[in-house]
Amino acid sequence: MTISEIREQYLKFFADHDHAILPSASLVPENDPTTLFTGSGMQPMVSYLLGEPHPRGVRISDSQKCFRSGDIDEVGDNRHTTFFEMLGNWSLGDYFKQEQISWMFEFLTNRLGLDPQNLYVTVFRGNTELNIPKDEESAALWQSLFASKNIEARIGEDSEKNGMGPGERIFYYGEKKNWWSRMGVPSNMAVGEPGGPDTEMFWDFGANRQLHETSVWKEEPCHVNCDCGRFVEIGNNVFMQYVKKENGFQELSQRNVDFGGGLERIAAAVNGDPDVFRMDVFAPAIQTLLVMSGKQYETHTHAFRVILDHLRAATFLIGDGVNPSNKDQGYFVRRLIRRAVRFAHQLNISENVCAKIGATFIDVYADAYPSLSAAREQVVIELEKEEKKFQQTLKQGMKKFVELLNQEGEKKISGVDAFDLVQSYGFPIELTQELAQENGFVIDIETFKAEKEKHQALSRAGSEQKFKGGLADTSEMSVKYHTATHLLHQALRQVLGDMVVQKGSNITPERLRFDFPYPERLTEDQLKQVEGLVNEAILKKLPVHFEMLTLDEAKARGAIGLFTDKYAEVGDKVKVYFVGDEAMEDVFSKEVCGGPHVSNTSELGKFQIQKEESIGSGLRRIKAILS
Ligand code: SER
Repeated sequence: MTISEIREQYLKFFADHDHAILPSASLVPENDPTTLFTGSGMQPMVSYLLGEPHPRGVRISDSQKCFRSGDIDEVGDNRHTTFFEMLGNWSLGDYFKQEQISWMFEFLTNRLGLDPQNLYVTVFRGNTELNIPKDEESAALWQSLFASKNIEARIGEDSEKNGMGPGERIFYYGEKKNWWSRMGVPSNMAVGEPGGPDTEMFWDFGANRQLHETSVWKEEPCHVNCDCGRFVEIGNNVFMQYVKKENGFQELSQRNVDFGGGLERIAAAVNGDPDVFRMDVFAPAIQTLLVMSGKQYETHTHAFRVILDHLRAATFLIGDGVNPSNKDQGYFVRRLIRRAVRFAHQLNISENVCAKIGATFIDVYADAYPSLSAAREQVVIELEKEEKKFQQTLKQGMKKFVELLNQEGEKKISGVDAFDLVQSYGFPIELTQELAQENGFVIDIETFKAEKEKHQALSRAGSEQKFKGGLADTSEMSVKYHTATHLLHQALRQVLGDMVVQKGSNITPERLRFDFPYPERLTEDQLKQVEGLVNEAILKKLPVHFEMLTLDEAKARGAIGLFTDKYAEVGDKVKVYFVGDEAMEDVFSKEVCGGPHVSNTSELGKFQIQKEESIGSGLRRIKAILS
């Protein structure tokens, strides 16, 4: 089965079970200062899991684009990718364990035809200190489902120590494995963060493949979570029913289900091949690499995988408006492209490769992600541009490198110089090492590592600073900035015209940031007018309320921000926020939005634009504060 077929089957299955099907949200989260990228399907759902009513109801399903920057260095094995699609379904205070577990079993075995003999599951062992009980209900549900297929599924209590006993198929694990929150284990969670125990499903790619022989864990007994590659996690049912409080966990007002499953991993199981890079979506890119390099995937697997993963991720990220740069999200796009180019060099590819590979992905995903297809030109241009820039950087780096070789004295490159090559010239250390070796030089790798760590510690401190606060303790200020963003959006349209639409928004408790298309720098006068309009709306003490409207109604009432990628079907209801009083014919802004917002603009204080700048590609950015 192809990736597309499985995606369709899944969404159809959940549509048949009364779920509203949503298109994927952007890879760049809106109004979420806690994270740079959408890294799981539930991320755009957080406010709804916490109790905000969802405009599409209590049963939601989608296939969400995800990017996990932390996995860049993991790429190279058969199952890690930085970009992936996560199939998701949610119960927002509606169904719970019974339905979720039965549906999953039915979907995997009956719809996709997976043999239940190769299916294994894990459940939460419970934690008395946290007062979270052992999930015996889920274990019993799984047991009866396996029994319906004449499989006696025994329960393993301690498989990470003892390995898997005969007939064992359901395993208890602690919070490291069977607890899910965006921040991981309970002790890492910030106050206000939702989380819960989960039950995960694993596919057995077969003991006879001997994959585990090559594992670093081979000294230890194999079990489903041991990472040896025999078992691959294909889905995670989270019972999102708790919220972290100052003094432990509290039940949320509603019991939610949050399911997420890696589409490619499920496809790998269906196709009986543990290598996700052999799924159909990669085939045209592999073919292109083969033609360009004359090398085979089978003999140059690692380099192929890195190039395939990184350029697909970069393609999707640029498609969502993230261009390569030295900052924030853009930095990761730059890193992905540069790393891909370097691995292309390893394959002796000397022509430009990025745009060619990117184009294969745009074609493959055109139907599922029309917005990627619409951004084709932009993606191709940015990939080209960044690759050229990097070639240039490599040239300069080479010059510097040759200077180092010509230095008098022992044939050694200092760690500081090697790190400078990374920092100032984007010259990867592996490359420096290779070149040094070719020239009979050695690198002082210990000092290099120390330099790198020093730098990482600095940037970590920087990003902690940047993301400080998180959701919970900052919500009040963030909500104010959220409403101020609506006012700014409307004010800009009044002053500059209807071409102003939100292209990006980012809110922290300290400021708002708003990106929109406009061809030139805003004049002092325009900025004053915009600021004036927002402050006027604040001084008028306008009430804020929302109504649930169909898309047609929302359009007819003049609402802006109909982000079509987010709301799939005409006829479905969306939430529209009104700032002002319609009865008094004094409505300042009408915008489709999930919320939350303040209830009156008088809560906002004084609005002040701090900065207006270009961020390239005809986009402007405004930063503003409330005081
Ligand atoms: N949030 C869970 C995960 O990302 C399930 O959707 O694994």
